[in-house]
Amino acid sequence: MSLQIDYEKELDALDLAAQPPQEEPKRQYYYLKKCRMLVAKMSEELGRPLTASTVTFGCQMNARDSEKLAGMLEKIGYQMVEGEEADFVIYNTCTVRENANLRVYGRLGVLHNQKKKNPHMLIALCGCMMQEPDVVEKLKKSYRFVDLIFGTHNIYKFAELLSARLESNDMIIDIWKDTDQIVEDLPVERKYSFKSGVNIMFGCNNFCSYCIVPYVRGRERSREPKDIIREIERLVEDGVVEVMLLGQNVNSYGKNLEQPMTFAQLLQEAEKIEGLKRIRFMTSHPKDLSDELIEVMAKSEKICHHMHLPLQSGSSRILKIMNRRYTKEQYLELTEKLRRAIPDISLTTDIIVGFPGETEEDFEETLDVVRKVRYDSAFTFIYSKRTGTPAAAMEDQVPEEVIKPRFDRLLKEVQKISKEMSSRMTGQTVPVLVEEINDHDSSLVTGRLDNNLLVHFKGDASLIGKIVDVHLDECKGFYYMGTMR
Ligand code: SAH
Ligand code: SF4
Ligand code: F3S
Repeated sequence: MSLQIDYEKELDALDLAAQPPQEEPKRQYYYLKKCRMLVAKMSEELGRPLTASTVTFGCQMNARDSEKLAGMLEKIGYQMVEGEEADFVIYNTCTVRENANLRVYGRLGVLHNQKKKNPHMLIALCGCMMQEPDVVEKLKKSYRFVDLIFGTHNIYKFAELLSARLESNDMIIDIWKDTDQIVEDLPVERKYSFKSGVNIMFGCNNFCSYCIVPYVRGRERSREPKDIIREIERLVEDGVVEVMLLGQNVNSYGKNLEQPMTFAQLLQEAEKIEGLKRIRFMTSHPKDLSDELIEVMAKSEKICHHMHLPLQSGSSRILKIMNRRYTKEQYLELTEKLRRAIPDISLTTDIIVGFPGETEEDFEETLDVVRKVRYDSAFTFIYSKRTGTPAAAMEDQVPEEVIKPRFDRLLKEVQKISKEMSSRMTGQTVPVLVEEINDHDSSLVTGRLDNNLLVHFKGDASLIGKIVDVHLDECKGFYYMGTMR
């Protein structure tokens, strides 16, 4: 028997003349059906199908949210397209750093021009930026052409909000401060047929002093293990071979469940799913990474030997002010432990340069960790002041002219090591998940190694979604050229 939800059957069973159901997800099925009717009418008047597009900024969480939006849009009857030439454009925004935020305003101007040419066009904004009251005020005042604004907590209500917009003509704004609700079983349209993100938790309780995420994503909430496992089983039945378990701090998964469960236990449950070949996860907070997890990873046949372990700073003094709750020494010990248990593990990280009060000595400590750990790759960020976070109010903000040279020095070091680390598998034959036809040379396909690096080799579209053995002939800096065996 199929595990998939028969949405058509669910929608058929609902009577639009009756009051909308109170319970979820039935209520949203009702509004999906209603939107479908309204959109079909518009499409008939125009004599063509209506198109929609989601444009995603920010992290994997947002990417997954956009897939949920796309799932609902498809059920409503929109044809999904890429880019901004569509009858309905949704910006799923990020506000983790100032520049992510500014980019959205810039592109809104472009959308406005498009809307002038296409009076049927709808524009929606959602995601983390919308959880900031100042942003919504600004939009209300100066961006009246936006049709629909909602936040991170009520994305599941998308169909209900869209139906309100289609029936009124007013700008619809619905932002919740927080929620403890998790609505399951809504349609999702995946970007890739063979791999998928799976949310295991929402929100964050860590309040690192520079970070806005806990304010815009709310308190930490874990999904029930049975819901997560069922979702993965459905995905596997639908052709998925690799999942990425998503959370801001996956290592604290399950602590607040009625029947607590550790992340390592959840991984063991996922491991049992037949047909699932690879398991990844993001992000691990060093303070909560357990020995149990390391042990489970070391034994596992499916969990990829890759750990993204954000460092942020190598200075114990700065880490304390960042409220990261580990020291330089503890972090180094942890990475040594990981390498002892899983010798071929690939370690990647996030680093912030120029946190308030960072001295040359502090920065040298960061460089020291980078040299000792030898990351496969690292995302490096210039500290960005986020209003409302404790760090934004700190007095000793570091001037840009001091940060920039440090950032450049760090980047150089990171890249040098990363190049050396990347090539360490040359000559080996390894399993690779084939993801796509190569952008530049259509006789090649691109596959992903367990450690997240890419390899290009001769092949065709029939290989996409398959795991095949590839000999790594040559490392070209950050990727390989290979031959299928
Ligand atoms: N939950 C993850 C990170 C989510 S945000 C974790 O704890 O590791 C992704 C990355 O953005 C962070 O790791 C951090 O390096 C960076 N970041 C967050 N806030 C920032 C800020 N105010 N300025 C610069 N970088 C920031
Ligand atoms: Fe932000 Fe820290 Fe939470 Fe990560 S753990 S999302 S850096 S507050
Ligand atoms: Fe950005 Fe929100 Fe993710 S602020 S990094 S999209 S959680």
